[in-house]
Amino acid sequence: MITLFENYNQMSEYVASIVAEEITNNPNLRLGLPTGSTPIGMYKNLIQFDLDWSNVKTYNLDEYEGIGENHPQSYHTFMNKNLFLHVNLKKEFIHFPDKNLDTHLKQVGGLDLLILGIGHNGHIAFNEPGSSPTSATRRVKLTKETIIANSRFFGSEDEVPKWAFTMGLKTIRESKRIILIANGQDKWDIVNNCFNGDVTKDRPASVLQMHPNIEVFYAPQ
Ligand code: PGA
Repeated sequence: MITLFENYNQMSEYVASIVAEEITNNPNLRLGLPTGSTPIGMYKNLIQFDLDWSNVKTYNLDEYEGIGENHPQSYHTFMNKNLFLHVNLKKEFIHFPDKNLDTHLKQVGGLDLLILGIGHNGHIAFNEPGSSPTSATRRVKLTKETIIANSRFFGSEDEVPKWAFTMGLKTIRESKRIILIANGQDKWDIVNNCFNGDVTKDRPASVLQMHPNIEVFYAPQ
């Protein structure tokens, strides 16, 4: 289930080529997208492709609560900088999770492709350890561990928002195709435990083992 890459660039290029291929094959693709440091290389490669994004619908996995969309560390800002400002995606086709997301996705037929990162504690989006595998899209309190991990993007731990809106595990698992990406030696243990170990609520990503169409890509450096 885990595909090993030699390095981060190779993995990033490959994931970008898959997304590009999916958009070429289906110009109406419903595409789930992550933020964080891991996908930056994928976005860098993806914006080099000459693709028509005008009918693509994007669905981000999560967003902080309590900081505005224009805050430098909001996920809206991240997405504008890394993708949205570089492609001809329509503003009305950009989605961030809110209480209406699951109903909307049900109506339109779910996500076709979802790219995911993973946290050191096995979280996916902001589904922290203990999250129910059938959880809906919802407002969540961030764990201390995630606040500390994300403080590298803020001035201090105190400035990291304590709440967020996240796509639920049920919503994630309903995607037709999932690709989880991770890089760095420090991520190996959690990736290995989630995909070669037991399925447990303590490691939310482990529930994806049961997904019929998941690929896990890992690069040690
Ligand atoms: P990272 O975050 O890509 O910045 O390591 C991944 C995650 O926490 O989902």
